[in-house]
Amino acid sequence: MSTDLLDDVRHAHEAALGQIAAVTSLDQLRTVEAQVLGKKGPLAGLKSRLGTLPDDQRKSVGQAINQALEAVGAALGERRQLLTAAALQDKIALERIDLTEVTARRRRGHPHLSTQAWERLEDVFIGLGFQIAEGPEVESDFYNFEALNMPASHPARSGFDTMFTDYKDDGSVLLRTHTSPVQIRVMQTIEPPIYMVMPGKVFRRDTPDATHMPVFHQIEGLVVDRNITMAHLAGTIDAFTKAFFGEGFNSRLRPNYFPFTEPSAEFDIQRPDGGWIELGGCGMVHPNVLRAGGLDPEEWSGFAFGFGIDRMARERHGVEDLREMFSNDIRFIEQF
Ligand code: DAH
Repeated sequence: MSTDLLDDVRHAHEAALGQIAAVTSLDQLRTVEAQVLGKKGPLAGLKSRLGTLPDDQRKSVGQAINQALEAVGAALGERRQLLTAAALQDKIALERIDLTEVTARRRRGHPHLSTQAWERLEDVFIGLGFQIAEGPEVESDFYNFEALNMPASHPARSGFDTMFTDYKDDGSVLLRTHTSPVQIRVMQTIEPPIYMVMPGKVFRRDTPDATHMPVFHQIEGLVVDRNITMAHLAGTIDAFTKAFFGEGFNSRLRPNYFPFTEPSAEFDIQRPDGGWIELGGCGMVHPNVLRAGGLDPEEWSGFAFGFGIDRMARERHGVEDLREMFSNDIRFIEQF
């Protein structure tokens, strides 16, 4: 009888291990666990028959059943671990993002319209024999106004919607309203002859509209040499116009007033269709400005000019509203 029972225990044990090995999901494992270890399972059934055995056999059969239960428990644990790890792997595989994926539409970036115009302008002026300089965007009253022949009470100051900082004395430090202060810095730094262009950001307290932005870009030009005349200025502007816009374009100067040049002019360019575009200001460097730059006006003369870079870009590409260039709508930017 006892050998029969021991055989039954062995069979129940082996059957349970076989069932566990065949399980392929955690759900199935839970069902099998209830079957093999549950109260109605084969090993529990054998256990309930222990009472019918003589004392000497009850112990060895009882031990065999307990060992079988332990082994089945361990096999269940191992299988659970394996299936849990596999389930995690499946989940990771399912949620995997292919970062190497090649999409049908590739996007290649490019410099902003204003940057393109800035770089092209530099190229054109380098071609004409100029050098490039840059100055600070935060300036002192001296460089932005005073040294450019606009002393404290000068009415021309009110033409600039200045943004002052609260650094140092009231009104003494500001975001430069134009690139002209770089003229002074260049004159103070290098000896003439000077053939320099100075591009950069400038700032004015303007409300954005189709033709104005509170932050915009200018390029300043300065030539200081011996016996420089207005003819050199007109010739340079015309050469630049044709190099930048094309041979079909012309330029003209119209009398104007700027405190830092005398005489002063506005310069316009003419499209091949005959229309005129106002581009910037220019003139012969005022003797006071040469002095502020540390140069003797009896010995040196020069011309200067300044104009907006963004407007050039706008003109070249036929952009209707300047604001579109800075609102960063990819559909707009991608066109250029
Ligand atoms: N700085 C002037 C402005 O922002 C532009 C300008 C006019 C620059 C005449 C010049 C110049 O160098 O000669 O309105």
